[in-house]
Amino acid sequence: MSRHFTGDTLVIASHNEGKVREIADLLGAYVAHFPSAAQLHLPEPEETETTFIGNAELKALAAAKASGLPALADDSGLIVPALGGAPGIYSARWAGSDKDFSVAMRRVETELGDGDPAAYFVCALSLAWPDGHIESVEGRVHGRLVFPGRGDRGFGYDPIFVANGRDTTFAEMDPDEKHSMSHRADAFAQLVARCFGG
Ligand code: IMP
Repeated sequence: MSRHFTGDTLVIASHNEGKVREIADLLGAYVAHFPSAAQLHLPEPEETETTFIGNAELKALAAAKASGLPALADDSGLIVPALGGAPGIYSARWAGSDKDFSVAMRRVETELGDGDPAAYFVCALSLAWPDGHIESVEGRVHGRLVFPGRGDRGFGYDPIFVANGRDTTFAEMDPDEKHSMSHRADAFAQLVARCFGG
């Protein structure tokens, strides 16, 4: 039996202010206050799990226990089946400490060579309560990789990803169009249906 969110305050277990704003926008109809882990001075746990959901649950649970409030965390990345699922949970780490995604995209291109360009983005969302209960969902968008990358919108691996049925990369697309079909949109739709009564 899934648990419904009640109350007016949801901690966003992220130290990335852009992500906090985006989540507050997406759930603004259901929740009044969105303190972030950074605003509450909560520690940032290391992502030690081996799956997206594992890492999202670890972050959400740590924030819920430390704050005494329900907390939401996400974890996302790009999966290339021909690379054995890489970069996967290491998607951010492939860009190095400079967070240079041209380096990460070049590594994908080099390792893939003329292998199958099929790929998908995953977004895991976990909502945890201080008593340890957790609800988790995983959203996906399937597509293929194109080289060289195209477009200067979006972030991360957007320039090399074309969703199924489209010709433009995520970095060429209007942001509203990307947000309507992305892995994040899919995950939020599932979470709202399950926990926010949408
Ligand atoms: P996270 O912030 O730990 O979830 O790391 C997610 C990483 O996955 C980002 O740094 C990007 O590299 C990649 N990623 C996740 N979602 C997207 C997307 O919508 N477009 C491009 N890259 C993404």
